[in-house]
Amino acid sequence: MSAPKKLFIKTYGCQMNVYDSERMAEALGGEGYVETKSADDADMILLNTCHIREKAAEKVYSELGRFKGLKAEKPDLKIGVAGCVAQAEGEEIMRRQPLVDLVVGPQSYHRLPEMEAKTRAGEKVLDTDFPEEDKFEKLKNRPKAKRGPTAFLTVQEGCDKFCAFCVVPYTRGAEVSRPADRILREAQDLVERGVREITLLGQNVNAYHGAGANGELTLAQLIWELDKIDGLERIRFTTSHPNDMQDDLIEAHGSCAKLMPYLHLPVQAGSDRILKRMNRAHTAESYIRLIERIRAARPDILISGDFIVGFPEETEEDFQATMDLVEEVKYGTAYSFKYSTRPGTPAAERPQVDPAAADDRLQRLQALLTRQQREVQDSMVGREVGVLFEKTGRLPGQMVGKSDYLHAVHVADCSCEAGELARVRIVASGANSLAGEVIG
Ligand code: 5AD
Ligand code: SF4
Repeated sequence: MSAPKKLFIKTYGCQMNVYDSERMAEALGGEGYVETKSADDADMILLNTCHIREKAAEKVYSELGRFKGLKAEKPDLKIGVAGCVAQAEGEEIMRRQPLVDLVVGPQSYHRLPEMEAKTRAGEKVLDTDFPEEDKFEKLKNRPKAKRGPTAFLTVQEGCDKFCAFCVVPYTRGAEVSRPADRILREAQDLVERGVREITLLGQNVNAYHGAGANGELTLAQLIWELDKIDGLERIRFTTSHPNDMQDDLIEAHGSCAKLMPYLHLPVQAGSDRILKRMNRAHTAESYIRLIERIRAARPDILISGDFIVGFPEETEEDFQATMDLVEEVKYGTAYSFKYSTRPGTPAAERPQVDPAAADDRLQRLQALLTRQQREVQDSMVGREVGVLFEKTGRLPGQMVGKSDYLHAVHVADCSCEAGELARVRIVASGANSLAGEVIG
């Protein structure tokens, strides 16, 4: 028998790419590939890329440049670019970097085995179509390998919102929800393989409206179906748009014990003038009222968000409105970015903010968000939380897991194993994690 071929996948960007990379590894697993952690001994290298901000694409090109020597040494090495840069740049990637053999967009991964065969025959392959068939369904015949306690599961892809700064509607295409029965089967399969916590993924996950036996299901209805799976202990979902936050989902946060008290709900900015220009279709006030309703249903919920500073025409006064909104909401965690021009999006054509002013605003916003994050984390000390243990820690006898609120928690001298869910009393708050003791 010949030695297995080795596959090296490097993943950039969001959690959906992490999920997609797993699916690609499984698809090529059927062709005799095993994953390797080093590009140096790979027979195939795949970069699963992100196009959300400018630097991400540039990183991909410089990474590709680094494979030149490797490819010269190993002419049989195949190099592929997948993900959103592949979708957005297409053929341009092969023009700019001739050592690339394969360019595959996020909707075509199920065709990877055929594409791999073509590259082996010396062809250059480009596939960035948006086919009708369900790529996940095609990818499902995989070995029943044991899994860690947490997993991502894509339920929805694409976006119809067209925020003025964002490439997602162009790279991931129109909003499509997967049928509920397929998601439930996949979830059941994950649980049988050891998964205890599932994070439902979608660029606009709370717009989910997949087909069910009796008509379409909302995300909340899907969550209640998942709630029935024995052995599945925790459900999360990300990322949501404020305008798709329906009443039944808010209620589920109050009444579904498996749905974790954590919600990533990006607002992007706090100035109504900028929100309008961003085409967000909500105001700062409507967002704040929404957060109040969510907190009424689940008072301890940890709110997370995304922010963009330096959006075209943002003034100091607009930026202050973002700071005010942050002060009011109090985020448990947040991601903040300097606006990055994405060619082809509406905002790219507009008057840009002075980069130094944008840098300064980003620093001030991040200082505030870091302070809030720290306060929320510190407020956990003395509380009892659920912790799902994921792995051993660096110290002997130590275990590490995530709390219900998604904080990393370390427990010393712990008799729990990975995959166990325990009640833990938080005793200290460190730089980026909490320390706790198992109760009872
Ligand atoms: N510039 C900066 N940040 C962006 N995001 C999306 N597009 C851009 C852009 N052009 C941010 C948004 C989004 C997150 C995933 O990335 O905050 O919620
Ligand atoms: Fe992009 Fe999210 Fe806006 Fe859709 S809702 S366009 S994914 S920022």
